[in-house]
Amino acid sequence: MKNADNMRAILVANPKGGCGKTTLAVNLASYLANQNERVYLWDLDRQRSALEWLNLRPASFPAIRRLDQQDDTHLPKLKGDGAWMILDSAAGLHGKNLAHAVRLAHKILVPVQPSAFDMAATQDFLDGLMEEKAVRKHRTFIGVVGMRVDPRTRAATTLEQFLQQYDLPVLTYLRDTMVYVNAAFAGEGIFDLPHYVSDRDREQWGPVIEWVRE
Ligand SMILES: Nc1ncnc2c1ncn2[C@@H]1O[C@H](COP(=O)(O)OP(=O)(O)O)[C@@H](O)[C@H]1O
Ligand SMILES: [Mg+2]
Repeated sequence: MKNADNMRAILVANPKGGCGKTTLAVNLASYLANQNERVYLWDLDRQRSALEWLNLRPASFPAIRRLDQQDDTHLPKLKGDGAWMILDSAAGLHGKNLAHAVRLAHKILVPVQPSAFDMAATQDFLDGLMEEKAVRKHRTFIGVVGMRVDPRTRAATTLEQFLQQYDLPVLTYLRDTMVYVNAAFAGEGIFDLPHYVSDRDREQWGPVIEWVRE
C-alpha cells in the first residue's frame, strides 16, 4: 500500500530502544493537535507506549485519534482528509516491517542520542534506510533529532560528524529534561503545557515543526 494522498504521514524510527521515539511521536502529535490539525497516532510497537499515553490523555484536550494495526485497510478512507498520521515504531524495526512503514511515510524522523552505543546501533539502520527506494527517489525525507543533548557539547559535534556520511542534517537538539517525563504521566506533550514551563522546549522544536510542514 502506498501512502495516501493528502495525508501527511510521519514515521518516527530508530531500532535502538530508549532513544526517544515515543517521546518524539507523542510530542509531535501534541503540537499538531494544539494547532487544530486532525491527527492520528498509530502505535506499531507491541509495548504500546504511545497508546498508553493516549489512554491517559484527558478528553478535554485537543484530540488525537488512534489507529490500530488492523486499521491498515481503512487508511485509504482517510484520503483527502488533510490529516496527519504519526507512526511510532518499535525497537528493532527492520526488514519487511521497516520497508512497509517507510512506504507509508512521507517523512521519517530519526531520534538519536549521541552516545557511541546509540550511534553504532543507528548505523546499520541508516545504511538500510538510505537504500530504500522511496528515500533514494526523494519521495521520503529523513530528519535526525539529537535527543537529550546540549548542542554545545562534544557529543553533539560527534553526532554531526557521524551523520555527514549520509548527508543528513540534525534538525534540532532536544535537551534532557523532566518536562517531557512529567508531561507524559498525564497523557500530555509539552505543547499541552502552559508556556511558562515549556517555552524553552517549544523553541527547540521550531526546526522540527518547520521541517514536517515544509
Ligand atoms: N528529551 C528528554 N529528556 C528527558 N527524558 C527523555 C527525553 N527523551 C526521552 N526521555 C525518556 O527516555 C526514556 C525513553 O524514551 P522513549 O521515548 O520511550 O524511547 P523509545 O520510544 O525510543 O524507546 C523515557 O523514559 C523518556 O521519558
Ligand atoms: Mg517507544
